[in-house]
Amino acid sequence: MNLPWAGIDTVKLAGRFGLPLHLYDARRITDNLQAFQSVFQEAGIRGQACYAVKACGFPEIIGLAARAGTGADVASEYELAAALEAGITPEKLVIHGNAKSAAYFRQAVKLGALIAANHHTELDRIEAEAAGQRKTAPVLLRLSGFDLGSVTAKGIFTAGHWCKFGEPVARVPALLSHIRQWPHIDLIGFHVHIGSQITEVEPYLKVMGEMAELAWLYREIVGRPVGVLDLGGGFPVSYVDGRTWKSLQIKIRRQAREIHPHPGPPPSRGRGITLRSEYVTWERMTGGFRPDPETGKIDWQHWSGEKFYSADPQEKLLARLLNGKVLFQGKVERVTKVWEWIGHPRLIVEPGRAIVGDAGITLARVVDVYPAAGGQPLVTLDLGIVNHGTGLVEPDLYSWTLANDVDRKDRLPFRAFVAGRLCFSGDLLSRYRISFPRKPAPGDIAVIEKTGAYAPTFFASRANGFPLPATVLISKGQGGIKMI
Ligand SMILES: Cc1ncc(COP(=O)(O)O)c(C=O)c1O
Repeated sequence: MNLPWAGIDTVKLAGRFGLPLHLYDARRITDNLQAFQSVFQEAGIRGQACYAVKACGFPEIIGLAARAGTGADVASEYELAAALEAGITPEKLVIHGNAKSAAYFRQAVKLGALIAANHHTELDRIEAEAAGQRKTAPVLLRLSGFDLGSVTAKGIFTAGHWCKFGEPVARVPALLSHIRQWPHIDLIGFHVHIGSQITEVEPYLKVMGEMAELAWLYREIVGRPVGVLDLGGGFPVSYVDGRTWKSLQIKIRRQAREIHPHPGPPPSRGRGITLRSEYVTWERMTGGFRPDPETGKIDWQHWSGEKFYSADPQEKLLARLLNGKVLFQGKVERVTKVWEWIGHPRLIVEPGRAIVGDAGITLARVVDVYPAAGGQPLVTLDLGIVNHGTGLVEPDLYSWTLANDVDRKDRLPFRAFVAGRLCFSGDLLSRYRISFPRKPAPGDIAVIEKTGAYAPTFFASRANGFPLPATVLISKGQGGIKMI
């Protein structure tokens, strides 16, 4: 038997569209979008989910958001064009990005779309554009400079102090008192995008509390409540289950304990100590266990940076947030109460990963299986890292399986590292040692699960002349199977 996905035989799809191949399940995307909307209804908060187009920008996929009644967050004039083409109406758009082009501002102002100003310097540029068009532009001010610690990988953390995005939050009170300096701007609220793959609720609660304080101040200075608070995206996907995640951490700790006393070549099994073939990470990297900057010693208690599992994935984290408590005016108060006090602003969230992440898988052909130069078991595929992603926005750890002969399993899973087909050693598709249900053989079809966000599109390139893999959207009951 072959692996079915979205109700279709994946091996047949591979035969029809070739390998490597990215698949998307339209039903799952729509369900995910609706799940976010339902959280607002249940909490009694006026909210709007805006799909973050960057997570996967095919117009057909944005079109699912349009049909589900959600909005879109766009980060360039090109994403804006795709969103409009897909049927998102201007009042449901949020215009994002830093270093925005003049053409992008021009169109945003013309459409009357909500613009997230990256910094007060952008207020000057929006003011000039809006004055030129004799319009008033609705604007959110993007904030950063929050003390949140290490909540995700550095490259996808966008609200700290070392960050190209946002107006430092501490400077906003002073800025608000000069707001009349921009007469063609209607500053209706604030925006923060903490980062991507935020696996816990605490950073959201902290940011929400600080935004509520600003909303309070805004009312005092401007004389009316804020209209919108936008908490950005970042809602996480669990790439592995809780057990795998815990056991990975235990194995990394154990590997370090067993290996570090023997910095040379690892001893043989005969001496009863770890073999190379038992390493769980490539080059014995310690993952999120990092050296303490003060002592230089690895902190084995805390996983710092991006985590690959969340107890509250996707919209469940939003639900926890809206049912949670924040520090407001010196007291810990329920979010719903605080919302009432600050005048019921519309709450925008911009999930990307949480909408498409678990709605996509990637199939690739197993080309070879061999021990690498250092003895590590390696599976190679006909898929380069560039058409899968890079560690910048994708996790390094995924769940893997095989698409053909799913009933054929070995007594024990086959655990290996996975490499692609590009001409550099860095072309590793898994630097964590992952499990296949049996030892793959050349010709088998490997499946990488939950690759729908960023992985197939963000860094896609034709490195080494390989063509881009096909991407197929499966919409059972509404148009069937379509290459996008
Ligand atoms: C402003 C903004 N909103 C939303 C998102 C989407 O983040 P995620 O895919 O983690 O939900 C991003 C991602 O970079 C972003 O920059």
